[in-house]
Amino acid sequence: MTDDLFSSGQLGSIAIDNRIVMAPLTRNRAGEGGVPHAVNACYYEQRASAGLIVTEATPISAMAHGYPGLPGIYTDAQVAGWQLVTDAVHAKGGKIVIQLWHVGRISHPSLLPNNVLPVAPSAIKPAGQAFTYEGMQDYVTPRALQVEELPAIVDDYAYATKCAIQAGFDGVEIHAANGYLLDQFLRDGSNQRTDDYGGSYENRSRLLIEVIEAVTSVIGADKTGVRLSPVNPFNDMKDSQPQEMFDYVASALNPFDLAYLHVVEGGIHGGGKADPFDFASFRQRYKGQYMANLGYDKARGNTVIANGHADCVAYGVPFIANPDLVARFAQNAPLNEADPNTFYGSAEGVEKGYTDYPAL
Ligand code: PHB
Repeated sequence: MTDDLFSSGQLGSIAIDNRIVMAPLTRNRAGEGGVPHAVNACYYEQRASAGLIVTEATPISAMAHGYPGLPGIYTDAQVAGWQLVTDAVHAKGGKIVIQLWHVGRISHPSLLPNNVLPVAPSAIKPAGQAFTYEGMQDYVTPRALQVEELPAIVDDYAYATKCAIQAGFDGVEIHAANGYLLDQFLRDGSNQRTDDYGGSYENRSRLLIEVIEAVTSVIGADKTGVRLSPVNPFNDMKDSQPQEMFDYVASALNPFDLAYLHVVEGGIHGGGKADPFDFASFRQRYKGQYMANLGYDKARGNTVIANGHADCVAYGVPFIANPDLVARFAQNAPLNEADPNTFYGSAEGVEKGYTDYPAL
């Protein structure tokens, strides 16, 4: 029998009951100090029938923040808060990994300690505006990181991974997508460095590889996933040769034998038109488990699992509005519509558009 979305599977050492993954979704509803609280545990618990939950992107340090209301994974209080979440998901038989995030230049001094400038591979200001506690404000020109500063950032990923283990997660996902720090290093529209971290495909991949080495040495490659978005133009991103660059990255990841590679197969948030890219040949290069994401419905999800393109499929917006997405897919039941006005917080209280979408 061919596999489909409802087949069980194995991502490294993470056994999953089905191939329907909840994609990482920024929801801006953490408590004070970036501490997850009861309502966050309720939200994830409601969605625990996913084969795997990837949490919302979660800053690994105070400098990694770029939006209001984000949780963190670098203080004892945050670890205790996340423990509420992992306990709730595990009690329902679910699996959950945390997405480790550094936003790089997609931030604003008002969101950072002592109002310092955001950091990035190069001092290139992204077009657009930051979402801050004081409303939308133009992005600033970030400060280019000195090569001597990079080991401390790698250490922050390792420390966050230790925190994730303490908090009871089944694994971690390294966020190297969507125009945030690691992706800023990968793509030459944001990386104009002339040292060992810029220029060649190998040099631009170096920070990601160092982060993978550090994270996997803490938790194991069998519990580590990586997310890439080769052609997503969101956050003012571009690359002169995306196919060559990301084919190189896929090959460079193979030796790690990661739990999975998670791929955003296009552009998000109407960030512009994505460059052409052959995801089928990119996927051929990658030898491990492949998680496909972006715009999939049930039929297309089953198709890419049956034809071998993907081992599992991550659904984002459908999981916002349908806590029981797995049951709805199984029964061919209609889906609730998601309300974009409450994606990133709500003026009508934290539950609105968060934990109040009905199950069947
Ligand atoms: C967002 O907040 O819009 C956002 C966050 C993380 C992503 C993509 C988008 O990877």
